[in-house]
Amino acid sequence: MSRALVTGGAGFLGRNLSARLIAEGYEVVVLDDMSSPSPLGAHEDATVVEGSVVEPPPLPGPFDRIYHLASPASPPRYLLDPIGTLRTGAEGTRQMLDLAEREGSRFLLASTSEVYGDPTQHPQSEDYPGSVEVTSTRACYDEAKRYAEAVTYAYHRQGRVPEIRVVRIFNTYGPGMAPNDGRVVSNFITQALQGRPLSLHGDGSQTRSFCYVDDLIDGIWLLSNSDVTVPVNIGSAEEMSMKDLADRVVEALGDTGIEHHPLPESDPVRRRPDLTRARELLGWEPGVSLEMGLPPTMEYFKSVLDA
Ligand SMILES: NC(=O)c1ccc[n+]([C@@H]2O[C@H](COP(=O)([O-])OP(=O)(O)OC[C@H]3O[C@@H](n4cnc5c(N)ncnc54)[C@H](O)[C@@H]3O)[C@@H](O)[C@H]2O)c1
Repeated sequence: MSRALVTGGAGFLGRNLSARLIAEGYEVVVLDDMSSPSPLGAHEDATVVEGSVVEPPPLPGPFDRIYHLASPASPPRYLLDPIGTLRTGAEGTRQMLDLAEREGSRFLLASTSEVYGDPTQHPQSEDYPGSVEVTSTRACYDEAKRYAEAVTYAYHRQGRVPEIRVVRIFNTYGPGMAPNDGRVVSNFITQALQGRPLSLHGDGSQTRSFCYVDDLIDGIWLLSNSDVTVPVNIGSAEEMSMKDLADRVVEALGDTGIEHHPLPESDPVRRRPDLTRARELLGWEPGVSLEMGLPPTMEYFKSVLDA
């Protein structure tokens, strides 16, 4: 049986990815420090090792594949511990590359659209070098992921980890998210369900594109089975303003009011992936619209808040 290590496997995406790997016949080992687990935790059929990728404990290999997802992922989480965020992206990624080298594993890095910073190109294609303000508070995450990509390509070029894959994930939502992770979809839905006003930052005209988790996991699965070693954007091309997203939530769950907050520092104004590479190299296309993906996500949050 093939074996995979999923770092960050107790988190939102790691749990969903583990479920897919197990369904595809993999034995899954999860390495997670439990700093921001999903309310659902790691997959029941995975072997869980608690510890950090920065100083990894002994792990029950061998591993055919390493899916490296461990990282604080939402601004409130990574801003709590900027140095820890940088260490996880830098030292943690190096540790996992060393492990991939020892094990001869295929290595997939979960990178992010944040490598593009506050982009001056729209939509963002993978060859856009990005526009990150290195002295901004958010840089701890953006630069950690940029370094993680750079060190992954360095191991690849030196022939130490020949099989690498890099996915640049754009905002993803769906069942498994933590209600308190501070991301806009979880914020709006939990606020509406709890009868609280939705926190809208700035004038709400800033845009994002939201990818349903099943689409993202399909993209990661296809990428990890392909021979594509260049970075690939995976996300939704359905761009919408935060005000429009708030309106959708109000329409579905009722009007609990809007509370205005200042726009966070270096918050990107627009964000939408150019998906040409994913289409051409992987034959991947997002299939779940926000209209289809929001209801199961709202049901999930209801069940978590009622538990
Ligand atoms: N969800 C998104 O929209 C999105 C967008 C872009 C990139 N990503 C990337 O995808 C990955 C998974 O994100 P997610 O949304 O599932 O976040 P999440 O917070 O739900 O999961 C991350 C998991 O990593 C664990 N973790 C954090 N630091 C660790 C460390 N040092 N050692 C071991 N485990 C550690 C946490 O406990 C958590 O279980 C992250 O690398 C994130 O940067 C996610």
